Amino acid sequence: MLDLHTHILPAVDDGARTAEEGVALLRQMQEQGVTAAVATPHFFPGSMELEDFLERRNAALKELTAAGGDIQVKIIAGAEVLYFGGIGRFENVRRLTVGGSRYLLLELLGVKAIDEKVIKDITDLGERLDIIPVIAHTERYCRYKGYRKLVSAIADGRALCQINAGFSGSKPETRAVKKLLRRGLIDFIASDCHSPVSRPVKIEAGIKALRMISATATNAVIKKCNALEEELNKL
Ligand SMILES: [Fe+2]
Repeated sequence: MLDLHTHILPAVDDGARTAEEGVALLRQMQEQGVTAAVATPHFFPGSMELEDFLERRNAALKELTAAGGDIQVKIIAGAEVLYFGGIGRFENVRRLTVGGSRYLLLELLGVKAIDEKVIKDITDLGERLDIIPVIAHTERYCRYKGYRKLVSAIADGRALCQINAGFSGSKPETRAVKKLLRRGLIDFIASDCHSPVSRPVKIEAGIKALRMISATATNAVIKKCNALEEELNKL
């Protein structure tokens, strides 16, 4: 099973502070059936240089891999990219995709509303750049103005939908997940883990919570996670 959204790399963002913490997160994953994890440190376009980010990410990935010892979870390089106006025309965004694939983990936190401009950029990522945007923790935007537009974009195939395994900590987010799951719109469940103590891996509990809503739809989500892992393994 693939964990598409994680902050396991040491000292690159607000995730793992050391390689030991990263290894502890990988161990939690392994215990919960995760076989591959995409390392998705935050990329904040306004305050980071792309080259510098990639250099720091790759060095941290090397450090974590070396510290991993007997851990069997494969680590794939990625990023959690914060939305910015014009991202749909930004060619260099390809360098931030998951393992060099067409998938881009896109975070919308910080936008005031999900308006036509945001939806156009999401559409442009696919149409102009041939990128598949995966909306990070979609349920978190459920109270944003324009959330429905985002759900429509997911429903008509312009973006894929990732939800966080810890969604059940909030009532509105749980409601949003229920609706998405029942409509068959969730593509991936991921841990978005940051710390083995304060924000640990809760994939097992997340899947259990999804199963309580719909076992059939949950099986479909797991199938999609596994299918993406296979696809990434071929790259
Ligand atoms: Fe994240």
